Amino acid sequence: MDARLQLRVQRYGWDVAASHYHAAWEDQLRPAHDQLLKMADLEKGQRVIETACGSGLVTLRLSEAVADTGHILATDLSQGMINDLQSRLDACDVTHIEVARMAAEKLDVQDQSFDAAICALGLMYTPDPAAAVTAMSRVVIPGGTVAATVWGERRNCGWADVFPIVDARVASEVCPMFFGTGAPNALTRLFADAGLIDIEEHRQFETLVFKSEADVVESVLLGGPVALAVKRFDADVWSEVCQEFLASIKDCKRTDGSYAIPGEFVTARGTRSPN
Ligand SMILES: C[S@@+](CC[C@H](N)C(=O)[O-])C[C@H]1O[C@@H](n2cnc3c(N)ncnc32)[C@H](O)[C@@H]1O
Repeated sequence: MDARLQLRVQRYGWDVAASHYHAAWEDQLRPAHDQLLKMADLEKGQRVIETACGSGLVTLRLSEAVADTGHILATDLSQGMINDLQSRLDACDVTHIEVARMAAEKLDVQDQSFDAAICALGLMYTPDPAAAVTAMSRVVIPGGTVAATVWGERRNCGWADVFPIVDARVASEVCPMFFGTGAPNALTRLFADAGLIDIEEHRQFETLVFKSEADVVESVLLGGPVALAVKRFDADVWSEVCQEFLASIKDCKRTDGSYAIPGEFVTARGTRSPN
């Protein structure tokens, strides 16, 4: 898919998903976010840029890590996500988080102006993950930290059939390279190519629990990357897609009607060379 088209699909897709995202994914993504924060190892007073911040599930935790002597610039491609995060910030008393709409590949900030650059579950969506990691590396100081988490390999993500199910009914693939960044050593290579050193990569297997059929449909079909395509389906196609998706995860259904779906995440961290 043409890069500009992919950016548009992502931007407007996440605008549509924004109203569902935060509550739908908070619990399921927490173990991956925990690992990212652990490997980023932030300190009080640090300046941190976050790319693909979404509704702020990680942003608020970053702001706790750097405390009010630090500063967070949270950025995302989708204005809907930015608005969602801003309204969350307006409702609480946090003053050291700034929010701006920005593509991860083109960060509109000065070189070497942050101590760390963080990206949770965003690199799979960009048409150019290498450019996004290079941009993160550019904006941190020598000795600064770059850390990112992505979904792992397709075969370890039990919800992954959603892509072919939706793609069969739309003109072009929704996320053509989604699982590319989760292949073994893919993040390590991206980090090394961006000139980062002391790279560590960690892979984790989790079980994502959804309370009901309605919850898993809301999270995966309405609160995720296929939201834009799904919004255009008429009632018959929507119903067909829901049935096919639920059939694809039927083995994950538990006797109480909840779902326990395997998911894999990969996190990498690296340091910008001090020279
Ligand atoms: C799954 S959400 C992750 C949000 C948040 N980081 C989290 O972990 O909960 C993916 C986010 O990536 C953003 N995104 C997709 N493509 C992007 C790009 N090229 N540049 C910046 N953000 C992008 C979307 O708008 C969406 O908010």
